[in-house]
Amino acid sequence: MSDYESGILNSRSGPGRDRLPWRVAWVTGASTGIGRHMAGQLLAAGVKVAVSARSADRLRDMGEGALAVPLDVTDSQACVAAVAQIEAALGPIDLAVFGAGAYTPVKADDIDVKVFARTMETNYMGVVNCLAAMAPLMLARRRGHVSWIASVAGYMGLPKAAAYGPTKAALINLAESLEPELRLKGVRLSVINPGFVATPLTAQNDFEMPFLMQPDEAARRSIAGLAEGRFEIAYPRRFVAILRALRMLPYPVFFRLITRFVLKAG
Ligand SMILES: NC(=O)c1ccc[n+]([C@@H]2O[C@H](COP(=O)([O-])OP(=O)(O)OC[C@H]3O[C@@H](n4cnc5c(N)ncnc54)[C@H](OP(=O)(O)O)[C@@H]3O)[C@@H](O)[C@H]2O)c1
Repeated sequence: MSDYESGILNSRSGPGRDRLPWRVAWVTGASTGIGRHMAGQLLAAGVKVAVSARSADRLRDMGEGALAVPLDVTDSQACVAAVAQIEAALGPIDLAVFGAGAYTPVKADDIDVKVFARTMETNYMGVVNCLAAMAPLMLARRRGHVSWIASVAGYMGLPKAAAYGPTKAALINLAESLEPELRLKGVRLSVINPGFVATPLTAQNDFEMPFLMQPDEAARRSIAGLAEGRFEIAYPRRFVAILRALRMLPYPVFFRLITRFVLKAG
């Protein structure tokens, strides 16, 4: 861990005002959970922050410092309008964090097409819509940092995540596809892959979540990784290491372990 990252992680009040490289940030999924904590910590560090989600009242709760821009990320035209509104009010966005997401557990005997479509529309197309609104402006300025929250659930297929996991795998692939070209054109791209974090999204899980992290800690790690300019920001480290090792196993061994420790335990 670098001095920079440990400084942020050890600071109780979040990152220090003079240490973050951004002036204006836009955070989607900012009404609750990880996005809300990220927005709060960026604000506390002196960054001007615009916050988006569908729940306008929760965005306004964030206080006067935050610019509330209610938005449904599945509406591509609304995303373009949101970026224009934010830049007119705060100036050029130099950090975008696309955190809006949804999760519905799925069982193999209950494949509801609507759930799959809605999850892909929100998690994947929601990021594409925001990116399509944001990237041309950053590319024209040849500066800026764009990021989105995927998940370690995108590393591999896992029980209950049949609708959710593919959207996160797609987001990781999207980031890998775009990073080299964006970097050559002066725009940074990061993908944030959290493990389990205690938020409204995971409150519906009826199993004990391993290595469960609190959302303020997840936000601190995300911001520290972004400030370092890392491409992938994945945490908690031990859980990530276990999942990466699992991913390398031959399928028969992988499925045996998943059946024993995830399916039967869940
Ligand atoms: N919690 C975890 O364990 C975990 C792990 C890995 C990755 N993630 C990812 O982290 C991100 C944040 O999740 P979280 O855990 O913090 O969950 P959360 O508290 O449920 O937050 C989800 C956010 O997304 C917003 N949202 C949902 N649909 C939207 C839409 N159509 N348009 C605009 N905003 C929308 C929600 O606000 P409104 O309902 O007000 O619109 C809310 O602000 C998600 O992408 C999630 O998949 C979470």
